[in-house]
Amino acid sequence: MSHPLFDLSGRVAMVSGAASGMGKQMAIGFAEAGADVVLADINLPGADRTADAIASLGIRTLAVECDVSDVEQVRSLYRTIDDEFGRIDIVGNVAGEGHTGRPEELPVEKLEEVLQNLVVGRFTSCQEAGRRMLKQGKGSIINFGSIGGWNSLGRGHTPYGMAMAAGIQMTRELSTEWASRGVRVNAILPAQVWNDGLRARVRAVPELEQTFLGGIPMGRLGNAEEIKGPAIFLASDASSFVTGAILPMDGGNLAMNAGGTYPGSPRAYA
Ligand SMILES: NC(=O)c1ccc[n+]([C@@H]2O[C@H](COP(=O)([O-])OP(=O)(O)OC[C@H]3O[C@@H](n4cnc5c(N)ncnc54)[C@H](O)[C@@H]3O)[C@@H](O)[C@H]2O)c1
Repeated sequence: MSHPLFDLSGRVAMVSGAASGMGKQMAIGFAEAGADVVLADINLPGADRTADAIASLGIRTLAVECDVSDVEQVRSLYRTIDDEFGRIDIVGNVAGEGHTGRPEELPVEKLEEVLQNLVVGRFTSCQEAGRRMLKQGKGSIINFGSIGGWNSLGRGHTPYGMAMAAGIQMTRELSTEWASRGVRVNAILPAQVWNDGLRARVRAVPELEQTFLGGIPMGRLGNAEEIKGPAIFLASDASSFVTGAILPMDGGNLAMNAGGTYPGSPRAYA
């Protein structure tokens, strides 16, 4: 039996990055909880495949090709939502690529690209959603951050970490601005969650998996499906008094000191 507080029936959600990984699973989770879902991704055939999975649940859905780093494409996405659904209740800003490179060698143009993508593009989505939700007097925005926006990952993550940290602070600012008018803004910070890119990196450098595991007290990486629970919680009335929360989804990573270890850790526990 499911609890009515988690019921998303009658609501319209938009999820970016919905063609694969956590965006796809978040979108399917919202649909399973009853929401209509708009799927935004640069990979339209992939978003169409997610739409097929959602339509088979008997839920209304629409895949839209959108590059979230392009302000005009994000605005156009929300105009499409207006035309097709007439409202927006839930937003999952998931898509957003970084760039890795040693800071002393990084072309500043690459930093600008990452900031455009993860900060400017994401702010535009929050702004477009926020304007509509403020008129409705209700809405929930979920921004994707990363543990790499909370403390540093090294390994060339400077631009990604800077951008993710900005997204976390944007979440706090927007939550303060909009809380009294019914719009909640929260962030989820995943640690390493398996996706195609991560599998390729671990195939190329197998020791990397041990490096990740050394920082995750649960002793495993995350799976994309595990986004469903936190996302449905933050989207739904189950979290009606929760805003400005920065929720780690990290198997205990941020709780542990960088020099800490846990039973079963690949690092010494003594
Ligand atoms: N997987 C992790 O370990 C991890 C950890 C922390 C944060 N994150 C963040 O979460 C996001 C999702 O991770 P994932 O594992 O689901 O990744 P993924 O690679 O499985 O999916 C990313 C999706 O975003 C889409 N996308 C990429 N750039 C886009 C753009 N400019 N506009 C629209 N769509 C775009 C891709 O086509 C893809 O469908 C990542 O982008 C990352 O910022 C991931």
